[in-house]
Order: sequence, then C-alpha cells, then structure tokens
Amino acid sequence: MADAVTASARAVVDLDVTGHRISRHIYGHFAEHLGRCIYDGFWVGEDSAIPNERGIRLDIVEALRALDIPNLRWPGGCFADTYHWRDGIGPRDQRPRIANTNWGDVVENNHFGTHEFMDLCDLLGADAYVNGNVGSGTVQEMADWVEYLTRGDDSPMARLRRQNGRDEPWKVPFWGLGNEAWGCGGNMSAAHYAEEARRYATFCHDHGGNRLTRIAAGANEDDLEWTRVLMKTLMECHGCTLYGNLPYQAVSFHYYTHSGSGINTEDATAFDESQFYDTMAYATGMERVIRGHVAVMDSYDPQNRVSLVCDEWGTWWNAEQGTNPGFLFQQNTVRDALVAGVHFDIFHRYARRLTMANIAQTVNVLQAMILTDGENMVLTPTYHVFEMNKGHQDAEQLVTHVLDAPSRSVGGEELPLLSMSASVKDDRALLSLTHLSADADCTVSVDLRGRDASVLRARVLTGESTTSFNDAEHADRVAPVALEAAVRDGALVLTLPPHAFATVELQLA
Ligand code: AHR
Repeated sequence: MADAVTASARAVVDLDVTGHRISRHIYGHFAEHLGRCIYDGFWVGEDSAIPNERGIRLDIVEALRALDIPNLRWPGGCFADTYHWRDGIGPRDQRPRIANTNWGDVVENNHFGTHEFMDLCDLLGADAYVNGNVGSGTVQEMADWVEYLTRGDDSPMARLRRQNGRDEPWKVPFWGLGNEAWGCGGNMSAAHYAEEARRYATFCHDHGGNRLTRIAAGANEDDLEWTRVLMKTLMECHGCTLYGNLPYQAVSFHYYTHSGSGINTEDATAFDESQFYDTMAYATGMERVIRGHVAVMDSYDPQNRVSLVCDEWGTWWNAEQGTNPGFLFQQNTVRDALVAGVHFDIFHRYARRLTMANIAQTVNVLQAMILTDGENMVLTPTYHVFEMNKGHQDAEQLVTHVLDAPSRSVGGEELPLLSMSASVKDDRALLSLTHLSADADCTVSVDLRGRDASVLRARVLTGESTTSFNDAEHADRVAPVALEAAVRDGALVLTLPPHAFATVELQLA
C-alpha cells in the first residue's frame, strides 16, 4: 500500500468551454474467432447448462449492456482475412469445418456465423462492425455479404437470408475493408492495398436505408507513411472527386501496449516497478501516434471528412501458463486498468478526428473485460474503467490542463504521473483521473472555472499493488469504491491513492 509520501498536483477545467463531441464509439469492442472469445466465451450453444439465449451467454450480455457497449467488431482481426461468410450461414450441423490457421491452428465449426453475430449485437444493443475479407476473399464475396445483411427487397442475397430465417434486413453501420493488410491481411504494400481498398469499397453498397462507414485497414502504430498513402489515394481518386463520394470514410490503426520489449514477451501479473512505469510510458505513447496520424490526415483532408479509428488497442502479455499460447488468454491487473484510463484521456482529446476505438478483445483474449471459466465469470479491472467512464459517451469535451503534477524519468523522458480528461452532458460533468505513481498518494486540486459545481459522486479503482487482479475466488479485489471529494472555494479537492483510476461526477449550476 501507500508509503508515507503524499505528492500534490494542480489542474484546471474550463467548465464553460466545450469542444468536440466524444463519440460513444470510442468505447467500442472487438470479438475475434480467437481462443475462447467466441467459443466458450460469448457462444456456449443452445444446449449448454450456462444460461443462454439462442446459444449466447446471458451473464456476459448483461455485463456488457451495463457498459452501454456501443459497437462490436467481428470476426477479426487476422481471422477476418481467412473468413468466408457463406461457411457461417444455414443449418449449423451442415456448416463446413475450417482450420483457424492464425489462432492455435484449431478446427472451427462455424456454429457462430452471421446470424448469431447479429443476434448478439441485438441482445447487446450494440452496433455491428463487420470486418470483411480482402486478403483471401473477392470483391463479389464482400459485396454479396453486404447485400445479404442489409438489403430489404427480393434480391438474390436478401432471398438467401430469408431462406435462413431472417426476414428483415439488419442495420450495419461499420464495415472493415480487410485487416492489417501490411501483415496477416496479405503482406501488401501501402500503395497496392490503398487501390484494393478503394475497389472493394466501391462495391460495398448502401442498400435501402443502411449507411456504411467503410473503414480502410490502417497502420501499425506510428507507420505514418501507410496513412499518408491511404489518404493520398483516397483524396486523389478521380471518380470520387467527380461525384463527391469518398469510397471509404475512415482509416484505422492498431496500437498494442507492452513495457517496451515487444508484445507477448512478459507476464500479465508478474512484473516489477520498472516494467510498470515502462508500460505506462508506452501507453502514453498513444498520444504521439494519434497526433501523427491526425497531422497527416489534416494535410489531405482539412475538412475532416475522413475519420480515424483505432480498432485494436490494449495490452499484450504472455498467455497464462497452462493455456494454449495461440489463444492469447491473459490476466488483467490494476496496470491494465491504468493503461485504459490513460488511453481514454487521449482518445477524448482527439475526438475531432478519432471517432471509434475497439479494445482487443472483449472476452478471454488479451486485455479483456470479462474472463470466464466454465460457469464462472469475472469482471476485470479494465471492465470497471469502461463502466466508470461511460458518461463520456457522446458528451462534449471540456478543456483540461494538468499543472504541477509529479513526474518520473522513464527511458530518459519525463512521464507525468497524473493524466486527466473531462466532458459535459446535460449540466453534468465527468472528470477522469489516472494516477500512475506506484507508491505515493497524490492530493489533487482542480480549479473549476466558468461554472459553479458540486460533487454528485466520486469513485476510485485501485488494488493492494499494481499487480492486483480479480479471479473467481476474489471477484471484487479490484472494484470501484467511494472516494472522498469536495468542492471548496471553486476547487475540487481529492486525494488519489497510488496506482489508481478515479472519476468524479459534478452537477453544474
Ligand atoms: O487481436 C489479436 C490480433 O492482433 C488481431 O487478430 C490482429 O489484427 C492483430 O495483430
């Protein structure tokens, strides 16, 4: 626990200066056919003793609904570029089996397919983000999938959907044009992929009232050249300029956090203080990466027509001992929660251009919200950050400045130990504070400028140490509790314990 040291920090929030709307889709999720995310995660099958609706596990649905989950990306990831959607429709016992060559080299029975995914989205109340196959698919196959999902009349694909039991078309707002085309999605050059993305997108039609946001598979981390080529190819498209339509409306990028030695090189729960700080420094690197992509996009698209989407983010540690390394099952500690807290502050700051983000992944894979073991279900520390922060969804940015915060030298650079962001919706402000010191308390005084405010609720999430986690025996070891916070003389004053994430809800006069 905390030693005797108490640091102090000062911050300012302009409660009357609102900025861009923070899209709720920044709180999006990702479910791949990988390890136990779908099978033995979301999907238990209709005959399971675990309570389910049409095969979908209900305790998971309930937990995610409590987060106001805005969207779910599926079926990959790398899996998306090996997935042929016709394998996953029709009677389950007649669906072909395929090899999942990316993840554990296991055999996939295709019992969870298009109808099951759309059913899951309906149960969650979440928008569908379907990721199509560019790497090993065809333009026609992708065009047919869009038609199958979203067309209402008696076109060939709409008929096929009806034969499989679904009369009405679904709404699909988000469509991915392949994944990691620079790697598992086909090892393409940026120039080649950019042409492919334009071609595939052209044939992904808006049927009836459905409007697709087509998302081009973007860069790895700070590969700004990839983004530059995508943007140039998009904005210089002759036909698109002629008719005023852009073939794709967003470009993505992926950013995974570790402590600097690479993904999949160290344990989720066994790490020392220096690895903890290295991880936090890596997490704050998200800001440099987003700033870079935004600068490139601004130069090609000053009108802000094209969105930036971070459709894979999160920590990537060694798989837990005794589990299939290809299943990417990892525990989730206070350290992971703080990575999420820092990322959300950054996402909020770049809300003008960044309109969606998807944590990898929702259940039993990488930085998960939920871990299951048979009938047991555990909510991770990261889950609680999503819950505590959900008031930022579709709220308006508030300008915040952190002044006089403690910092620490990490790898020759100063790492600020306090991260913060704020938003306002309906005369209620939400402040989020992530405190990165491993061992000291920090008393924070936040000048609340522009409007009078009173504290409605303050909560804090922390644990005995940065390595604390939840499991079936200790499901609430890391869970939010009330935090003392008060407004005095126009300043919000609170003391944060070490390695903590806190939120304060304010009523504005
Ligand atoms: O999320 C796991 C994998 O990480 C995804 O399949 C891939 O896109 C990325 O490399």
